[in-house]
Amino acid sequence: MKLRICDSVNEAAMATAALVVEQLRSKPASVLGLPTGRTALPIYDALVGLHRAGRADFSRVHTVNLDEFVGLSPTDPGSFRGFMERHLFHHINVPADHVHFLDGDARDTERECDEFERVIASLGGIDLQLLGVGRNGHIGFNEPARDLQLRTHRVRLRMDTRRANAGPFGGRVSEVPREALSMGMATILEAASIVLVALGGSKASAVASAFSGRISTDKPVSFLQLHPSVTVIVDREAAARLPSRRISPRAPAESNLQRHANGSSRRRR
Ligand code: GLP
Repeated sequence: MKLRICDSVNEAAMATAALVVEQLRSKPASVLGLPTGRTALPIYDALVGLHRAGRADFSRVHTVNLDEFVGLSPTDPGSFRGFMERHLFHHINVPADHVHFLDGDARDTERECDEFERVIASLGGIDLQLLGVGRNGHIGFNEPARDLQLRTHRVRLRMDTRRANAGPFGGRVSEVPREALSMGMATILEAASIVLVALGGSKASAVASAFSGRISTDKPVSFLQLHPSVTVIVDREAAARLPSRRISPRAPAESNLQRHANGSSRRRR
């Protein structure tokens, strides 16, 4: 796992957007896996800026989003589809029929989930999966549980997750759907590369589990340690609970990155 510690939200967003642009340069017809949430906002702003500056062309890209609330139609403003339209899709040149989304309002959600897996497979899999992380360590909507699901599935959301998602529902937790459809752990981990972004002190514990050297279904994010190509981009607050022997608060970000890379390769030997 590569770690990059940034001094500001803007730096983290630009670093993430730069990885997306690099991906599009090496493969213009990339399949991008995309998240929603507050963390994604500055990243999408950065991508829209790069697109307007002529530096990011999405004309051959396909997108697949991680998850969607059950019971919300794609036109519902609270839906993740609505979020993506407002913050990214309306502002870039991705063709409408290249945007692939779980329909939370589907009558048969099991079939919808299976169909989503088929779409991803027919696209040849995800090239680059962008991820945020929940405070409790969830990725997509793979909540901490005794067992995690491999494939796209219907999931009951935990109260803390509904609380964290209450913003777009006027802050009213009771309005946040109780269930969602989400890519499974294998759907995510089969992406060729993964970039996880975490900002703020509330994510520090989740970030620490991504570097703990242990995997646990209590911290779904910890499974990223099994993937051969993961970059984690954080600000200093989100890095606060990483082992102090690797992270010095005053050291420049690049040397932290180097120190971390050295530390993890030593451990693997
Ligand atoms: C939701 C999404 C996740 C996202 C998480 C973090 O639960 N399902 O994909 O990573 O929120 O959101 P935020 O970036 O707003 O903290």
